[in-house]
Amino acid sequence: MRKSVLSRLPKIVLALLIQFFVLGILAIGVWVVHYWIAPPYPLWLLVGLQGLLAAVLSCKLGLPCWWRWIQFFLPVGLYLGISFQLGGIWALVGFLLLYLVFFNASKERVPLYLSNDTTREALKTLAEKYQEVRFLDLGSGLGGTVAFMSQLPNVERADGVETAPLPYLLSKILTTLKGGEIYWMSLWKADLSQYNLVYAFLSPEPMPKLWHKVITEMQSGAIFVTNSFAVPDVKPTEIWELEDSRQTKLFIYQIEDEGQVASALKLSALQTG
Ligand SMILES: C[S@@+](CC[C@H](N)C(=O)[O-])C[C@H]1O[C@@H](n2cnc3c(N)ncnc32)[C@H](O)[C@@H]1O
Repeated sequence: MRKSVLSRLPKIVLALLIQFFVLGILAIGVWVVHYWIAPPYPLWLLVGLQGLLAAVLSCKLGLPCWWRWIQFFLPVGLYLGISFQLGGIWALVGFLLLYLVFFNASKERVPLYLSNDTTREALKTLAEKYQEVRFLDLGSGLGGTVAFMSQLPNVERADGVETAPLPYLLSKILTTLKGGEIYWMSLWKADLSQYNLVYAFLSPEPMPKLWHKVITEMQSGAIFVTNSFAVPDVKPTEIWELEDSRQTKLFIYQIEDEGQVASALKLSALQTG
């Protein structure tokens, strides 16, 4: 109950509440400890504890777990900035860089993290099902997966779409050197009917809407693969559990004939009311 009330708060508000809560815990801790150990206490230790506790609590109190990094680096970054007397301009530069990289984190709830080599090898195995692969990475990040796929002999076309400015720019350079094509385009505008292998590594947030797009546009026989985030209430054709350190799961959906697509659409219309 408590968790669901907290989860309904805007994430930024919840994040700040957690920081203040931890500050309160630390204040009580310092007050208790002063009976045994006389102050002052090293500031770096208190700031480190603030960041660590805030990071641990964030995941438990309803913030998406990747917010723990923000929660840790917020107090630590402020402390370092003050200690090294960094001017405000550096905070602005840092903010702009983060914004250009994590452009889609606030609106789409999808940050940047990258597929690893094991996942790319699995995609290669999947691509072996086809003689001619037309591959699309929805939200292609730094373009590594697109460049990798473009080098496979049976891949006729490897494309990516990306809207975060810095990753787009870097991926454009990479694919110019290594192959593949990146478009500065929202994944919601991509025409999926042109591809027979579509890959997404996003977050739980867009999956229901994305599934609707997938079954509306993708051709029968094509494959939709999502890394880590399954489509809710839809049984995948296969689940591949990879032997990497993060135990990646690939949820594989083979697009079936039109009758099944129509009934899936009907079901999704019923679910959305
Ligand atoms: C988790 S990363 C995955 C990167 C890459 N696909 C990989 O596997 O290495 C998700 C990417 O999707 C991008 N993204 C999120 N929403 C998007 C949208 N609506 N249109 C295009 N790209 C989007 C983000 O900017 C981010 O680079």
